[in-house]
Amino acid sequence: MLKSGVYTQLAPIQFGNGSVEMVGEIAKNLGINKAMVITDAGVVGVGHDKKVMASLEKAGVTALLWDRAQPECPDSALREARTFALEHQIDGLIGLGGGSSMDTAKISSIMIPNDIDDILNHLNTYLFGEKKYANPALPVVLVPTTFGTGAESTYCGVVSSEVENAKIGVLCNPSYGIVDPTLAVGLPAQGTAFTGMDAFSHALEALGGKKNTPHSDLLAYEAIRLLYQWLPKACQDVNALEPREYTALASNFAGISFSEAGVHIGHCTAHFIGHDFHMAHGWACALNVPPIIELMGKHFPEKTAALGRAMGLDVSETASNLGKTVANEARALMRRVGIPSLAAHGVSREQTMAYAPMINENFLSHAFDIEIDLPLCEAYLASLYDNYM
Ligand SMILES: [Fe+2]
Repeated sequence: MLKSGVYTQLAPIQFGNGSVEMVGEIAKNLGINKAMVITDAGVVGVGHDKKVMASLEKAGVTALLWDRAQPECPDSALREARTFALEHQIDGLIGLGGGSSMDTAKISSIMIPNDIDDILNHLNTYLFGEKKYANPALPVVLVPTTFGTGAESTYCGVVSSEVENAKIGVLCNPSYGIVDPTLAVGLPAQGTAFTGMDAFSHALEALGGKKNTPHSDLLAYEAIRLLYQWLPKACQDVNALEPREYTALASNFAGISFSEAGVHIGHCTAHFIGHDFHMAHGWACALNVPPIIELMGKHFPEKTAALGRAMGLDVSETASNLGKTVANEARALMRRVGIPSLAAHGVSREQTMAYAPMINENFLSHAFDIEIDLPLCEAYLASLYDNYM
């Protein structure tokens, strides 16, 4: 019997090469007259901001550039963005860049009209659905320049709390997404690999997420099929457009999929180790892909076989060592695109294993549609470390 559940499509997506030039028209149609363009210095360095500013001005939208978005979206950057927005009385936001710029824009869209200076003081009141925001969010258009987070299609942003030394998810929706593959042409190979494997992990975790539906599964399999085929090519030739088109599409599909189905033990583990050992989000997530597939093989053989077939393997759900076989194919992909291991990063096995109780106790792990306990978390981390050196 097919699983019942809610199909989610949060916001329209304008997809295609050159579609960044439509940002002005899209913003205008959303009722934006004075836009704050939230981005970072790296994006300004390659000149993408100019395309956005020109399009907004052409559509008659006053555009103000704010290029102070910080990696991992710290709460101090959110406060700074809000002060700027109130000073200039903006009525809409454009988030241009990677996950951090887009998350800064999304979270700001609820802080600005709701008199919220410190988002972390409002977590229980507003962010866990106990109370709705008093005022509606400002319209926010998201334009990714790297393809991994899928933030243009997800219902939350992640803020790094400098006080609590942790990452916290905040509920906030985009109004519109613009996925223009040309914006990622020239992105260095390592950044391409990390962001692409982040998308891969979203699709994989969505397949085993408690809220998965046939709709989220469909998007996840297709995202994995496209990433398996095109991510190595995108890493090999960073100036080639065709691999970027497919990886951009896959990242968005994976975003829609996990926004519906949820992520779980992989992202939970990645938040801990990525934070503590200063690793890019996609890198930390990538390392979790093989041990998740091993668990999938045990609990969801049919899905694992379909996952294997999406990666070009000739496998059925009755194959012996199904999880290991498919996980090894994922490890081969990770080696092809150059994902360094934890050992290569100087993290010891002992340091890794110490996270087992934290992962077991964290609510996010339990969004995986299997029973999680301490021995499982220990075996998971052992495989993560030992089987990808
Ligand atoms: Fe992620």
